[in-house]
Amino acid sequence: MNSVTVSAPATTANLGPGFDSIGMALDVWNDLTITRGEFSVSSTGEGADLAPKDTRNLAVTGVEAVFNHIGEPVPGLKYEQHNRVPFSRGMGSSSSAIVSGLVAGSAISGADLSKEELTVLAADIEGHPDNVAPAIYGGCTVGVRNGVDKWIVDQVKLPEELYAVLFIPEMKMNTHESRARLPDQISRTDAVYNIGRAALLVNALSSGRLELLKYATDDRLHQPHRAQAFTAMPQLIEAAMKGGAHGAFLSGAGPTVLALATGREVTISYEMAESARILGVEGKPMIVSVAHEGASVVSSS
Ligand code: HSE
Repeated sequence: MNSVTVSAPATTANLGPGFDSIGMALDVWNDLTITRGEFSVSSTGEGADLAPKDTRNLAVTGVEAVFNHIGEPVPGLKYEQHNRVPFSRGMGSSSSAIVSGLVAGSAISGADLSKEELTVLAADIEGHPDNVAPAIYGGCTVGVRNGVDKWIVDQVKLPEELYAVLFIPEMKMNTHESRARLPDQISRTDAVYNIGRAALLVNALSSGRLELLKYATDDRLHQPHRAQAFTAMPQLIEAAMKGGAHGAFLSGAGPTVLALATGREVTISYEMAESARILGVEGKPMIVSVAHEGASVVSSS
């Protein structure tokens, strides 16, 4: 194989209470083409100026992880990214790059890794599985660490039609800084609050009892701390609920706020955008489907 093109989706992580565990793929895709030849990296689209053009690029990290895994030298490769996932906004742009690299590396090396193997490599790079697992499997996933180097992932049954209504602020949120804001310890009351809601969230999605999401998407583990740096967050969530969302939460480390809907998407989007306008938060709304498929090879030669 001389060249391979892969598409990998955006993802939303946490879904409120499922910090570092639960995630969902969204129908917004980054493309990566790798071609044998002299090493180079180019990016177009979202974050084109910000994505590293050297081996620090996470697509390169993904490809290299596959070759290291199978014990073969990394060949010279030309990397061409076309990104549609907004960069550093809580929509899994890093995971999309890692997973696109892993899937492309798996194809061009002939390693043909399973989704389970890809997930272990991806979660080891990212440090948690909530974005990378849905980018690999599609749909909604729950992932947990088992021991020091194993990751267990399961898919959550979803309604066929489920929409994400997002408000994507202009400002970027550095995930590392956003995580540094979180306390190392929480009270048992808050732990119980989140455990119950994470379980209810998964059950409500798989049973289709979406009216429970308004309780199940609440969180005490990370959102209240992140709201200190992004004070508009609670009002944007409230606006989404007023517009008719089933549930709404901070997407990943933020600053994007995401609402789950099965109707009234335009009203929800309007309410969020209007609330942002009043609060002086620059940004744009987006309505997308949940992606039921994960990353895949779209062409090769
Ligand atoms: N679970 C992660 C977080 C997702 O909330 O920090 C972003 O990497």
